[in-house]
Amino acid sequence: RLRVREALGAREPAAALVTVQGWVRSVRSQKEVLFLHINDGSSLEHLQVVADPSLENRDLTFGSAVEVQGKLVRSPHRMQNVELQAETIRVVGPCDIWSFPLKMKERHPLEYMRQFPHLRCRNNTLGSLLRIRSEATAAIHSFFQNNGYVHIHTPIITSNDCEGAGELFQIEVSNEARQSAEKTHFFNVPAFLTVSGQLHLEVMAGAFTHVFTFGPTFRAENSQSRRHLAEFYMVEAELAFTESLQDIMQVMEDLFKTVTSTVLSKCPRDVELFQKYVAPAQKSDITHKLFFSSCRIPYSEAVEILKQASQTFTFKPEWGCDLQKEHEKYLVKHCGEVPVFVINYPYDLKPFYMRDNEDGPQHTVAAVDLLVPGIGELCGGSLREERLPFLESRLQRLGLADAYQWYLDLRKFGSVPHGGFGMGFERYLQYILGVDNIKDVIPFPRFSHSCLL
Ligand code: 4AD
Ligand code: MG
Repeated sequence: RLRVREALGAREPAAALVTVQGWVRSVRSQKEVLFLHINDGSSLEHLQVVADPSLENRDLTFGSAVEVQGKLVRSPHRMQNVELQAETIRVVGPCDIWSFPLKMKERHPLEYMRQFPHLRCRNNTLGSLLRIRSEATAAIHSFFQNNGYVHIHTPIITSNDCEGAGELFQIEVSNEARQSAEKTHFFNVPAFLTVSGQLHLEVMAGAFTHVFTFGPTFRAENSQSRRHLAEFYMVEAELAFTESLQDIMQVMEDLFKTVTSTVLSKCPRDVELFQKYVAPAQKSDITHKLFFSSCRIPYSEAVEILKQASQTFTFKPEWGCDLQKEHEKYLVKHCGEVPVFVINYPYDLKPFYMRDNEDGPQHTVAAVDLLVPGIGELCGGSLREERLPFLESRLQRLGLADAYQWYLDLRKFGSVPHGGFGMGFERYLQYILGVDNIKDVIPFPRFSHSCLL
């Protein structure tokens, strides 16, 4: 039994009988010969099957699942080494082509495919995307493992609000369970779906020095946007004994370059499909992005650049205000459409854990955001406040000192300068592949709230 990818990779025809299973992507019946293309998800390319027309049957249609037995023979086509000369074709599962939403030889737009979250993986574009997503996931793990990081499974259910932005999904037991339980909260305290594994990584960095996590993250925020999801994957790294933002930026850049070049070398055809059909208008291709020339601007300078822009913004740029999408776009353009690191944000704008730069009169923290063309923010990170008195007084002012006693403990017992960052995995995929809508880089889009597949 061979996978389609293995069959296509065969250099020489073989005398032995082989079996290939998959789904029919095209059927072309001629007087003398029957042609099929079958695909089993192992590659973008289909395997061509040639058969005697007598093997044709009513159920052998586009979309049906088949098992073909035959011999690999030399193909007259320039594009492929071999094809499968069928001896038997068994339809394992027929497909009703009239009601099947995918049509043979049609290039369905991504918006159309989004209506069928359960079927769209059988489309070429989504097939390529999901293979790339799988390779990129493996490459991220390899990158960190090869560089001495320990992988940590950080909790998904947690009681902390790491970002303090109030974008939390709270967890409650169902009504039936509540009737039999006495407690108001299952865990005695309010519990949420995690918005970031950072605080847990900080715990672990205090023992393993370099750690990472790569898991699902949840935010109750504008899910209608083209770059926000309620459920997404975040890659997070935390480094102890790190005193400069430069070190954090270097890891972001190395991660980006290593993962992207791995994806390019493992899935060249899948990547090519995006360049040809999904983002043909993109000025720079993925190899260009690989070189990653970048620009670095302090937030205060960024605000000055925005203030001097000839363009009028919907949100007037003002020191102390968050950078809006339009501002990020302008800054990226200003730097020549390359990735831009914006560093040292206003103290009052950022979460409690960021390290105080002790500057003035414009008080900042050691934060860094990486903005990229077409997407905006791809990574967010910072140095963490490792000095007990600073952190204690900030938490006290926020009324959080009691809840974060354990976090303060980390500053009492062997505290070291440290920092880290998080990268949105879906935004990474959007950026390298030029995909406009974030819903098109996840396996299961939630098309509507009534359809939580
Ligand atoms: O900038 P954020 O909020 O950073 C943190 O959560 C830090 N605690 C990470 C850390 O330092 N360990 O989120 C990090 C990245 C963003 O830059 C963005 O790429 C992505 O996560 N992100 C989202 N992606 C998709 N949908 C959303 N709703 C997202 N919110 C953030
Ligand atoms: Mg951020």
